[in-house]
Amino acid sequence: MKVFGISGSPRLQGTHFAVNYALQYLKDKGIDVRYFSVHKKKINFCIHCDYCIKKKEGCIHKDDMEEVYKNLIWADGVIIGTPVYQGNVTGQLKTLMDRCRAILSKNPKILRGKIGMGIAIGGDRNGGQEIALRTIHDFFIINEMIPVGGGSFGANLGATFWSKDKGKKGIEEDEEGLRVLRKTLNRFYDVLKEKVEG
Ligand SMILES: Cc1cc2nc3c(=O)[nH]c(=O)nc-3n(C[C@H](O)[C@H](O)[C@H](O)COP(=O)(O)O)c2cc1C
Repeated sequence: MKVFGISGSPRLQGTHFAVNYALQYLKDKGIDVRYFSVHKKKINFCIHCDYCIKKKEGCIHKDDMEEVYKNLIWADGVIIGTPVYQGNVTGQLKTLMDRCRAILSKNPKILRGKIGMGIAIGGDRNGGQEIALRTIHDFFIINEMIPVGGGSFGANLGATFWSKDKGKKGIEEDEEGLRVLRKTLNRFYDVLKEKVEG
């Protein structure tokens, strides 16, 4: 089983820590993991030039998305983490999602059936974490993936954190957030196992 984790934060702080916590949790269960952070990466905006649609050779931009494409295709499951910015995902993560049109236009089934889960981190307790999760889930749905949450009685739509704007320390101190993340990971692991091993 192979899982690719993405952090949509421009910093190596809370989201970086939470996504790596998730990957380590799965690694301990024997899963092969890979990680990508948008930190210091060059990811150009989609310019809707339709090069990907017309040529079916990927994106006109040659930048750090090459690494994302390769790993999304490699993975059986994908974890996307984001800080909440203005009540939703970061601009960097939204750009990364937009740019995935390039691999879908080459092969519309390229991500079909892969399992996805989200992690959303807000500085405020109710800062838009669930809306950011829905944006991540919509990305999975649009690309024919299977989004999973953590189930009722505790994790619902997926992993959410209240960092109190304290970066990595805020995540380490958010015990409820870590519990919800583990609950979501357990569900993600079960669905992934079912998909890969039958
Ligand atoms: C431009 C910007 C917008 C933000 N908007 C929100 C917001 O709408 N709601 C919220 O709860 N936190 C907001 N925050 C705070 C971050 O989500 C929070 O500090 C988060 O833990 C940062 O994650 P990181 O440590 O991975 O970078 C915002 C931060 C920035 C820089």
